[in-house]
Amino acid sequence: MKKLGVAVIGTGFWGKNHARVYKELASTNLVAICDVNVERAKAIADQFGVKAYSSSAYMLKNEEIEAVSVCTWSTMLAKEALRALHAGRHVLVEKPMATNTKQAQKLLQTAQENGLHLTVGFLMRFIPGVQNIRAAVETKKIGDLVSATAKRVSQWPERIGDVGVVKDTAIHDIDIMRYISCQDPISVYAKMGNMRHRQFEDYAQIMLTFEGGQSAFIESNWLTPYKIRTLNVTGSEAIMRLDYITQELWVENAKETLQPRIAFQEPLKMELQHFSDCILEKKKPLVTGTDGLKALEIAIAALQSSAKNAAVKLN
Ligand SMILES: NC(=O)c1ccc[n+]([C@@H]2O[C@H](COP(=O)([O-])OP(=O)(O)OC[C@H]3O[C@@H](n4cnc5c(N)ncnc54)[C@H](O)[C@@H]3O)[C@@H](O)[C@H]2O)c1
Repeated sequence: MKKLGVAVIGTGFWGKNHARVYKELASTNLVAICDVNVERAKAIADQFGVKAYSSSAYMLKNEEIEAVSVCTWSTMLAKEALRALHAGRHVLVEKPMATNTKQAQKLLQTAQENGLHLTVGFLMRFIPGVQNIRAAVETKKIGDLVSATAKRVSQWPERIGDVGVVKDTAIHDIDIMRYISCQDPISVYAKMGNMRHRQFEDYAQIMLTFEGGQSAFIESNWLTPYKIRTLNVTGSEAIMRLDYITQELWVENAKETLQPRIAFQEPLKMELQHFSDCILEKKKPLVTGTDGLKALEIAIAALQSSAKNAAVKLN
């Protein structure tokens, strides 16, 4: 079986996991890693027995590399992803994909012009319970969709210093709301602020509304002393509840509470397996570049909404 030659750009907390999973997958061959922190690059490369680089431009000359994961600081993602696309490599760029929509659009355009895969790190979609909820909404197993509420709170991961909780954390739930409802919101209203973080918001409440009258509410913060990551979906006939951490799912109606037994899956493993399958089998990815752009647009509109204390219409 042909293995896909891959590399990881940015091997901090998260990129290290990409490197580990690529090493574990049967369909990928981890060729190299790159980090601007030379010591870290060397340590991670040694751990996985691959070549270390501190410059991605130099690493991308290595022709064994066909695809890359970009896991740098959020404000560097677009620059590194664009460099890799220009060098003819397929790209998985971590969320939030770019700092602004212009950069994100440039990534989409470059990938399309060069016939390359571009996907964004919305790995929540790969959790089996999310797939289950989306199918239940599509098939109306819970009746008509009424609303959804997501909560994603924890302490501030202090290594994240270049974006706030909306672009870093709430963006996962923004994507999930689009995904499970199979539609784009038409407006966003948000309230946010900062209690501990000096530069960026560390709490946000975001409300999305949809054309059919459905609404979604997202609560995110870096102030809660422990992690909660949940999704509650209300349908006209039943509700569904998901705990993202344990991956437990409940389906409840007036008569009963059911808890389907779904095997736990490592979302990153599912995501990277899918990324490599899509490239090798020339399939459309579950998360497209457009999904990344749309989620970023909504996140930016949420920031604007809070700044002017008014709802922002979305196109
Ligand atoms: N999808 C998810 O669930 C998820 C989870 C965690 C982090 N992330 C994303 O992954 C990215 C990294 O987050 P993290 O927690 O690992 O941060 P981190 O600070 O631990 O790691 C970032 C690494 O990138 C390196 N770096 C920065 N610019 C670089 C460049 N131009 N070239 C090469 N290396 C560079 C840094 O030296 C550092 O080692 C962020 O965009 C974050 O949003 C996604």
